[in-house]
Amino acid sequence: MEGAGPEILRANSLYHIYESNAEEGNVVALRGLSVSILEGEAVAVVGPSGSGKSTLLKCLGGLMKPSAGSVELAGTRMTRLTGPELVKLRQETVSFIFQDSNLLPHLNALDNVAQPLIHQGVLARPARRRAKELLDRLGMGDRSFGMPEELSGGEQQRVAISRALITNPKLILADEPTGALDPITSREVLDLFDNLHKESDVAFLLVTHNREVASFCERSLELREGRFIAQHGGDVDIGDLSDSRELIVDDSGTVTLPPDVLLQLGGPGRFDVPELKRDILHLERVEEDKVSVGASGKMELSPSCPACFHQYGDSDEQLCPDCGSSRPMVQA
Ligand SMILES: Nc1ncnc2c1ncn2[C@@H]1O[C@H](COP(=O)(O)OP(=O)(O)OP(=O)(O)O)[C@@H](O)[C@H]1O
Ligand SMILES: [Mg+2]
Repeated sequence: MEGAGPEILRANSLYHIYESNAEEGNVVALRGLSVSILEGEAVAVVGPSGSGKSTLLKCLGGLMKPSAGSVELAGTRMTRLTGPELVKLRQETVSFIFQDSNLLPHLNALDNVAQPLIHQGVLARPARRRAKELLDRLGMGDRSFGMPEELSGGEQQRVAISRALITNPKLILADEPTGALDPITSREVLDLFDNLHKESDVAFLLVTHNREVASFCERSLELREGRFIAQHGGDVDIGDLSDSRELIVDDSGTVTLPPDVLLQLGGPGRFDVPELKRDILHLERVEEDKVSVGASGKMELSPSCPACFHQYGDSDEQLCPDCGSSRPMVQA
């Protein structure tokens, strides 16, 4: 079903800081980020490694309390709930799927799937019956009694998806759900999501590096350094985000320029605003103050990845195809 209903999730001005005594000090993982997801909508979150995708998902799903900001799930302000109320709301509304399936190693497939219902107080027998129906539907019926370690990666992920579905969630939060799978299994899992998306009114928020995952979503949000900087339509090409990018100015007035836009602007610096109208912001560089690292002051996209040393060659990709890190600008 296409998303058109009321909001299932709304987050306002989320901040998250990981406190640390280490030399590098605290890490600000989310820097004032807002998002709204409608019932039945499928939304992808794309962005480089370390941009805050997993942190965001955990805050949205109530697994972690953000340092500041509010999250409303199905109309209830989660950040105000007490422990038991939060657990109840979470159990009834949202399911998580992680990159590795996170199955309980001492339970077989059937009991792993039944477990969330049993947690909600459903008796074992009806819970197992429902679990078996889901495993059958996902082509795993004959592996019901397999232990996690005896299942392949794709089978484990199908068990994890069955487990995520058994509570009839309104929202599925998935963190790189196909990240650990080979292309064929990954395709199967995606077809499953696609069917679910068409047949039910469950909403998805999916973190992904995978083009095909992003393409089944209605829109993709681009996260960079803890802020959404742009939104893309369903036809997003993760290899070249500049094609479909609509920049986002957030509610604190911040706009973060993607490297390609910054490059076209001639790099960082100070700018005059000779013209300012609704929807039009004209920037004019204050030339003499060009921020230059060295003699030339000209910036270009780095030829190699600072994290994994991938060589970009002639490509103008902005995310490393090997490790997902963002490609910095360097002095020409
Ligand atoms: N438990 C933690 N303690 C301290 N810092 C953390 C912790 N978890 C994450 N971070 C930091 O917060 C930032 C965001 O991390 P996060 O895991 O949300 O990124 P991500 O976008 O999911 O990255 P990836 O694509 O590699 O999974 C990073 O700088 C990371 O080092
Ligand atoms: Mg992550």
